[in-house]
Amino acid sequence: MEPKMTSQVMDQEYSFPTVRTQGSGWIPSRWFNVLPHLPEPLPEVREPADGGESRIEIQKRIRLASVQAQDRSLEPWIDIPAKVLEKYEEIGRPTALTRARSLERYLDTPASIFIKREDLLPTGSFKLNSSLAQAYFAHAEGVGRLVTETGAGQWGHAVAYSCRFFGIESVIFWAGVSERQKQSRSLIVRMLGGVVHPSPSRETAVGRAILEKGEDSLGSLGTAIGEAISFAKDHSDFRYISGSNLPHILLHQSVIGLETKHQLEELGEKPDVLIACVGGGSNLGGFMNPFLPERLAPGSTLRFLAAEAASAPRLTQGAWRYDHADPEGITPLSKSYTLGRDYLLPETHVGGLRQHNGSPVIGVLRQRGLLEACAYAEKDVFETGRLFLRLEGIVAAPESCHALRAAVDEALAAKQRRKKETIVVCLSGSGLLDLGGYAANLQVKT
Ligand SMILES: Cc1ncc(COP(=O)(O)O)c(C=O)c1O
Repeated sequence: MEPKMTSQVMDQEYSFPTVRTQGSGWIPSRWFNVLPHLPEPLPEVREPADGGESRIEIQKRIRLASVQAQDRSLEPWIDIPAKVLEKYEEIGRPTALTRARSLERYLDTPASIFIKREDLLPTGSFKLNSSLAQAYFAHAEGVGRLVTETGAGQWGHAVAYSCRFFGIESVIFWAGVSERQKQSRSLIVRMLGGVVHPSPSRETAVGRAILEKGEDSLGSLGTAIGEAISFAKDHSDFRYISGSNLPHILLHQSVIGLETKHQLEELGEKPDVLIACVGGGSNLGGFMNPFLPERLAPGSTLRFLAAEAASAPRLTQGAWRYDHADPEGITPLSKSYTLGRDYLLPETHVGGLRQHNGSPVIGVLRQRGLLEACAYAEKDVFETGRLFLRLEGIVAAPESCHALRAAVDEALAAKQRRKKETIVVCLSGSGLLDLGGYAANLQVKT
């Protein structure tokens, strides 16, 4: 089915219902589905021509039915189940939208810098917005066991908590290099009852194949994805869930952008540029997609800017083509910006952006010229993180520091142009469990 024309959706259905919380704000009662707003249909997934088992059939078998339906839905709005809405409120939604005035003063810029504080959620990142929804759907479908992957560990942490809340067992394949860097987070995940396997591991056929080749002992989000899928394939009582890339995850994350829209409207502010870091595209998509109808409106000057890691430069240097999301090719082929599944990602402290490909939705935005992108070196982003800590008192996650770095550059450009701009940044997570990365990059003694 062809997606609806953007203008139809915009004219009739763009205003969204909100629910007043017992705290001080409003949260949306529906998720925003970007699929009917995209300027072209999302490219279909494909089978590789290797004569092997159907990768699409594997996905159908191991994933939750509810989220597969969401991935195909062209409904512009999807109701947030009451239980999830209640939980969103309990974890502190709406998250604050604060102004980084000390940073503005330090940069001596005419720009206003607003920060959407997803770092304030209990597990330390935006990931709970989708993990709670997916654990809820698993529970509703009678599924008692979930397996997933995690890069930085923020998704694994959020899944372990959400599963515990809904009485579900969780198994988490965690990019090995990142799990070793973050022993405190790993301890929290295990305290929550999550079973952690640093990946590549000997637990799955995919992990054993990677280890036997001896090429990638560091692991990455891709190796962990391959192992989680391989595990789900071999354990029929498990379902596999993921934390980025796919449309249903961007859908759940749309609460970030919807709240931001509402909060800016209440302040009488209009954004000039929205900035987020990009790994699998879920905080960026969740934050920016609800603004897409505005971005597409004739004469719009609103800009979307993605900040990626220079060590995994998919949007700035990758190719827009079909690829697997894992190195062994257990996933179907999907179209996104990719560096190639054999790309050897260097060891960094930015586990959440350390992957060879990305989200097809974000790819369409980039391909259509709707999303600008910039890439930053690890040391530079940790320096921005330290600056942000000194000025605002907040320890940002290494991934989020990429977005902050881009915001600093935008604010300095506004100063040169002498233009009063409104910059809005998604602070996707807290870095309080990432201090090893700060210490290693800034040569600070711990
Ligand atoms: C704090 C934080 N921000 C951003 C990301 C990147 O993910 P995505 O691009 O899906 O938002 C991660 C991924 O683990 C993360 O932990």
